[in-house]
Amino acid sequence: MALHTFIIPDPFYILGSTKKFCSKAVQNKIKGACDVNIKKAFGQPAPHSHPHLLGDDEVTPLIKKQEYQCRRQKLVDAVIKHAKKNCSHAENHMIIIPSTSKKYMSDKIPYVFRQNTDFLYLTGCQEPDTCAVITAGSHGSNHRVALFTRDKDDHAELWDGPRTHPEDAPGFFGVDQGLPMSDLSKYISSCKKALPHLSLWYDFEAAPHQDIHKIVCDYLHDSSNKTFDSPRNFIHKLRLYKSTAEVALMQRSCDIASKAFIETMSYSRPGIGENQLFAKVDYECRVRGAEILAYPPVVAGGTRATTIHYINNNQLVFNNEMVLVDAGCEYHGYSSDITRTWPINGRFTNQQREIYEIVLDVQKELIDLCAKRPSLDALFECMCLLLGKRLQELGLIGIQPNNNYLMQAAYQLCPHHVSHYLGMDVHDTPTISRNIKLEPGMIVTVEPGIYITEKSGLPKEYHGIGIRIEDDVLITVNGPVVLSRKCPKDICEVEQIASVGLEQCSKNV
Ligand code: GLY
Ligand code: MN
Ligand code: MN
Repeated sequence: MALHTFIIPDPFYILGSTKKFCSKAVQNKIKGACDVNIKKAFGQPAPHSHPHLLGDDEVTPLIKKQEYQCRRQKLVDAVIKHAKKNCSHAENHMIIIPSTSKKYMSDKIPYVFRQNTDFLYLTGCQEPDTCAVITAGSHGSNHRVALFTRDKDDHAELWDGPRTHPEDAPGFFGVDQGLPMSDLSKYISSCKKALPHLSLWYDFEAAPHQDIHKIVCDYLHDSSNKTFDSPRNFIHKLRLYKSTAEVALMQRSCDIASKAFIETMSYSRPGIGENQLFAKVDYECRVRGAEILAYPPVVAGGTRATTIHYINNNQLVFNNEMVLVDAGCEYHGYSSDITRTWPINGRFTNQQREIYEIVLDVQKELIDLCAKRPSLDALFECMCLLLGKRLQELGLIGIQPNNNYLMQAAYQLCPHHVSHYLGMDVHDTPTISRNIKLEPGMIVTVEPGIYITEKSGLPKEYHGIGIRIEDDVLITVNGPVVLSRKCPKDICEVEQIASVGLEQCSKNV
């Protein structure tokens, strides 16, 4: 008997357990799904098993089968266009995109699984040890997608849960063919025989799956025709522009993280541990539906905020110190990335306020500048110049009528870039240059900072101040839209929210 018949929960149990949390419509959907006997469990949420997450035809929340098909068609078109432009003699193309494999901390203890982003973008498949193979002739209009999923294995499924079996892949993922992984090598060999002048598209440099990599290497070893190239940059060019569904997911990811920041700010009080703020922001994101934090957050109290990649998060934050928190969440595969810095007791000192005002004003100015669609590198130069001017006005940078000098001096105090692309990955689409102009549909961060160490040579009263303010910005035809706008950053509001914790403490005394 197939394993899935054992693991299907009793429909009445589902209805009973969700009654309190689900709307009538969702309850009816669950009941309907149970009634029509779509009882097969897949290796990831599906509309029939998770109607509170997925609507009809959605492979992942908000993203329908047709959108995934469209992404694959665009990739095929881009590859063929590139081949033609470069006078390639290829008559056929084979694009191989592997999933990641599971990674283990020790023995059988897994790390949290994270899918190869390019594979997830093209298929929506969230399972390890799977692989997409797209074949296309030189016109591309009738390309074929085979999705290889894990072979049935009753024993493994008893331990790890159900898998999406190959026969279910076409219906669920909208691919042409579902095949077991054990057939991958044979399939590639038969393509090689059947398709003359075959060009291979595979990312040799960032191969996410060792076994699949070996199969592809064997293919190349045996092949007389050794044309190959990476499809990575073509996929990143698609991922760079967010669709309507992706913008909605990014907005939700930013909303969740923004609310988590508000809760964390109002929870903070002198003497609190960085670990407690870490736990609070994590909890507040997950409780709102995010699966995971998008990266190990920086929770840096006092002077530790001047260490840009501080993630130990194991110190206490004392009265009159600030805390810098850089955190974001992953919501159904889409990442937010927000930084706020606030006084732990709800009141900036004079020096903290002076520096905070500079970072905030510059950050707002840079967001406004996005309307002119500069490149991210141009935005970085603007940041250096604007920070330099303001620090000079404050007397922290010497007077010299030379922009280069100002920018260099500012770069000493903010030694990181002001922006990166944002999307499914935090540092999204890394093969895309930061030297291209912004365009509608792109999402970027704007994150200036000032970090003043003892070595800066600045007056002592500023030492140990580290401030960054980071927002996530969608570029539209009507100008920039700050997706993280619900996360407060103006001085009065930040002070008011950050003082809530201290007020509650004194009431409890
Ligand atoms: N949180 C990583 C970054 O801001 O780039
Ligand atoms: Mn960032
Ligand atoms: Mn960040």
